Amino acid sequence: MFPKHRPRRLRSHPQLRRMVQETVVTTSDLIYPLFAVPGESISQEVTSMPGVYQLSIDKIVEEAKEVYDLGIPSIILFGIPDDKDSEATGAWHDHGIVQKASAAVKKAVPDLVVIVDTCLCEYTQHGHCGYLETGDLTGRVLNDPTLELLKKTAVSQANAGADIIAPSGMMDGFVQAIREGLDTAGFEDLPILSYAAKYSSAYYGPFRDAADSAPQFGDRRTYQMDPANSREAIKEIELDLNEGADMLMVKPALAYMDIIWQVKQASNVPVAAYNVSGEYSMVKAASLNGWVDEERVVMETLTSFKRSGADLILTYHAKDAARWLG
Ligand code: PBG
Ligand code: ZN
Repeated sequence: MFPKHRPRRLRSHPQLRRMVQETVVTTSDLIYPLFAVPGESISQEVTSMPGVYQLSIDKIVEEAKEVYDLGIPSIILFGIPDDKDSEATGAWHDHGIVQKASAAVKKAVPDLVVIVDTCLCEYTQHGHCGYLETGDLTGRVLNDPTLELLKKTAVSQANAGADIIAPSGMMDGFVQAIREGLDTAGFEDLPILSYAAKYSSAYYGPFRDAADSAPQFGDRRTYQMDPANSREAIKEIELDLNEGADMLMVKPALAYMDIIWQVKQASNVPVAAYNVSGEYSMVKAASLNGWVDEERVVMETLTSFKRSGADLILTYHAKDAARWLG
């Protein structure tokens, strides 16, 4: 008549709930993305991402100090260069914006782990993540010539003091190429965090405003993955692990928690989830309208990423989350 099994017994008061809580998000799990622009004293809010700014290097340094003081262990740097060209010169130049920002941050806050995004899309005039045949207007990215540019980019980022290289362009063999480049240049101890399973997603929209990196023609479907596929994600992570990836990333996160789970089961390295720009903008828009409770929605989402198997979370909410975590 009466239920014998009563799971509610363990939910009856807050301390008991605390004792049986399975998943805990901590500030050490968080990675905060930053966008570096040339110039000085620039702090330009991204319209589609309230609370996120394009920052000149002096401001990036201030921000890095704040992030570190909040207890967040790491940032990931994206760069918006002055000039874009077909060779993505701004990506691999020793005085590129990310190289300068990395050096400045490492000088000011040596203990903050600086991850650099290693891709070409912010630096090519067409906005694709790789090298295109001259005059090509179809957006067919050439894989192997792109690897050479990525290798150069990673080495110059390493020379600038970056702590972790994070290639995000979904080129075949990019981890191996970058590993070879780093090893040859004497950076055999520098880890690679591969954007291993990166989907061709509409959730990147606001980021492309922030990084000024929308493709001028075509789309990224010949290199980023089809949201309908999960077997392919496992294929991608196996390849990246074989090529020497030290950590793996799944991106986006919210609509891909099954992928996070599968990648976690199929690997034995740390798994990062990228809580991308569109996911952030949706939460921000709803909370600014008073339609959801921002803190509760964000913390629930971050907890769910961890429950799905993420060890690390890249998120634009990192500073707020660190404050809420106290
Ligand atoms: C490109 C890159 C993208 C993001 C980071 N690096 C996506 C893209 O434009 O295809 C997305 C990040 C976000 O949406 O927050 N290599
Ligand atoms: Zn790219």
